[in-house]
Amino acid sequence: MEHDSYKEFDPQIERRVEDLLAQMTLAEKVMQMTQININHHGRDELEARIRHGAGSLLNMYGAEILNEFQKMALEESRLGIPLLVGNDVIHGYRTIFPIPLAWSCTWEPDLVEEGAHIAAEEAAVDGTNWIFAPMVDICRDARWGRIAEGAGEDPFLGQAMAGALVRGFQTPLADGRHIVACPKHYAAYGAAEDGRDYNTVDISERSLRDVYLPPFKAAFDAGAGTVMSSFNEIAGVPASINKFLLTQVLRDEMNFTGLVVSDWNALGELIDHGVAPDLREAARRAALSGVDMDMVSDAYHDHLQSLIEEGAVPEAVVDEAVRRILRLKFALGLFENPYGDTEQTEATFLQPPFREKALEMARKSMVLLKNEAPSSQSATVLPLDAGEVMRLALIGPLADDRREILGCWHRIGRWQDSESVYEVLKKSMPNTEITLVQGCSLEGDDISGFEEALAAAIAADAVVMVLGEAEAMSGEAHSRAYLGLPGRQEELLYAVAAAGKPLIAVLMCGRPLVIPWLAENTAAILLAWHGGIRTGGAVADLLLGKANPSGKLTASWPRALGQVPIYYAHKNSGRPADGPGTSQFDMAHRTRFIDEATEPLFPFGYGLSYTTFAYSDLQVTPPRDLQGTLRVTAVVTNTGAMAGDEIAQLYVRDLVGEVTRPVKELKGFQKVFLAPGESKQIAFEVPVQELGFHGLDLTYKVEPGDFHLWLGPDSSQGLEGAFTL
Ligand code: BGC
Repeated sequence: MEHDSYKEFDPQIERRVEDLLAQMTLAEKVMQMTQININHHGRDELEARIRHGAGSLLNMYGAEILNEFQKMALEESRLGIPLLVGNDVIHGYRTIFPIPLAWSCTWEPDLVEEGAHIAAEEAAVDGTNWIFAPMVDICRDARWGRIAEGAGEDPFLGQAMAGALVRGFQTPLADGRHIVACPKHYAAYGAAEDGRDYNTVDISERSLRDVYLPPFKAAFDAGAGTVMSSFNEIAGVPASINKFLLTQVLRDEMNFTGLVVSDWNALGELIDHGVAPDLREAARRAALSGVDMDMVSDAYHDHLQSLIEEGAVPEAVVDEAVRRILRLKFALGLFENPYGDTEQTEATFLQPPFREKALEMARKSMVLLKNEAPSSQSATVLPLDAGEVMRLALIGPLADDRREILGCWHRIGRWQDSESVYEVLKKSMPNTEITLVQGCSLEGDDISGFEEALAAAIAADAVVMVLGEAEAMSGEAHSRAYLGLPGRQEELLYAVAAAGKPLIAVLMCGRPLVIPWLAENTAAILLAWHGGIRTGGAVADLLLGKANPSGKLTASWPRALGQVPIYYAHKNSGRPADGPGTSQFDMAHRTRFIDEATEPLFPFGYGLSYTTFAYSDLQVTPPRDLQGTLRVTAVVTNTGAMAGDEIAQLYVRDLVGEVTRPVKELKGFQKVFLAPGESKQIAFEVPVQELGFHGLDLTYKVEPGDFHLWLGPDSSQGLEGAFTL
């Protein structure tokens, strides 16, 4: 179905906007630019403001209460303007899907789009009309807790996911309702120094344009109607007073016509940033820079009217902001029907097809990081054969968990709707005796369960350990300075390893972890992430081979914390780690560590399957000219014994540029399903215009010259080719 786009103006709506605007007092205009929250403002103040024409509510859930407030806005405010109701629907509303970092590992934008649409369906019936997602921040530093909320390190994949999510949210809903998306956080919030949330960002305009802005552009091209300005500064200018970002780039270059909302109290924080002595100056700078709506700080509420009356802010600025707000409310149909449907919420939530989609998404999000043959046998350790495993030791603090797996920002998602690995395995392995041992907690120092865990492992035919992070270890304000398994979990591993059995680890987490010992000493690792309500089912299906793992990483996994930030699309430098020369001097004087490799433990794009794939017959048809298309084909063959999906990836390197270029850049990907023995040709068409970058003068250009390319299973390997532009 066609999705809504808020790019084009409808003349009829424009007339309604102008009519309404003409009737508004200055105070009413400022109220429309104000977003309020019940916990922050208190119920009495909230109601008073709704009666005075507040523009928007946020972080409130439930059709019943939201309908009350909408009714108040329509019937008790002078002009009867409905409320925008904004909520964080980050990876599902009641049907909780895997965290976004996980679902990006499906490399299936269409599937993610379906998930977003389900989330919109549930949110809309419950009274939400504005979704604060997708989070499209590129992140290359796993310390940042919010890496969980995005699509990882790569702008090309990030663009695909951003567009898909906007389309999913903004496709009109079955009952005729509409939702508007809000890509965030504009911009470069994911580039915080040392991964500490809210911290300084100081990146070049070139990186900003080449790496951090493209997913926003993709979201706008898909028709996103709003955008959220971020907390961070960039090179000394906080995003919410960054006229370059909010006006020049956003409006003039990207032609974005929608509404800009600040992040939570971002205007208030301008004082802490030290760019405004008080809230009044914060309001002045933000309004003049292009923030249309103030999320809860009250800078606009308290000061914008007098700033206009004194001539410090032209009224035209406010009129333009209010036009954007009203235009959106008309386009969403809120004047006709702003209400959630209390009769339909329960019937809408968690419908069987939604739960099924959550299972599919969880299965496809999970990444098989390792699967080796135990030394005495020839077969790999996974999948487990339920008929062969008479006794299974299921060990670890997450083995029977139904809460942490929901992941950060699950909001009104409920643990009661989810299933643990233990619960599903019990059903799927009726003839197996499963011994469940927690071993230790996720955090803390209690090791009293170690002995029991070891005993269970000794007695078992197979040992599965379910380890990882609590959900509260990622997400906003949850950066970590250590990326290992928290608490005593690594020691639990040592203890259980003493049983001498091949260890199968299932990792549940919200970010890449640093797990050298685990990677070295286990036989298999299934990365399950925080996989949402169907985590248990998906893990069980994959462990038992009812489904074949197909997910691939969208963020590099470091070997050591000191490698962070780490990403495949790095620059070569003047002394590349794998550079030429064999003398002692050459070998030593390279961009490397003296005590650790430079490569990640698991590279971007990496993931195994229960089958194997071979790539052959690479054909490269160079583009005719700079307006042309690069064509690349190859054959992928399933060389193993099980049907499976392979995610083929095309990387390109521009060998010489007027500025330095990354050693590899993803330019295409394709998921291909192959039966055992089957071969398929895959074909990529890359418009040459997508091979450009921001050059010396910071304009986007494609330079003629020589390129290398790789087509293969991940960013570290593939068939190699070349072409000249
Ligand atoms: C977060 C945003 C979120 C907003 C509203 C902020 O703290 O940074 O991502 O949309 O709160 O909940």
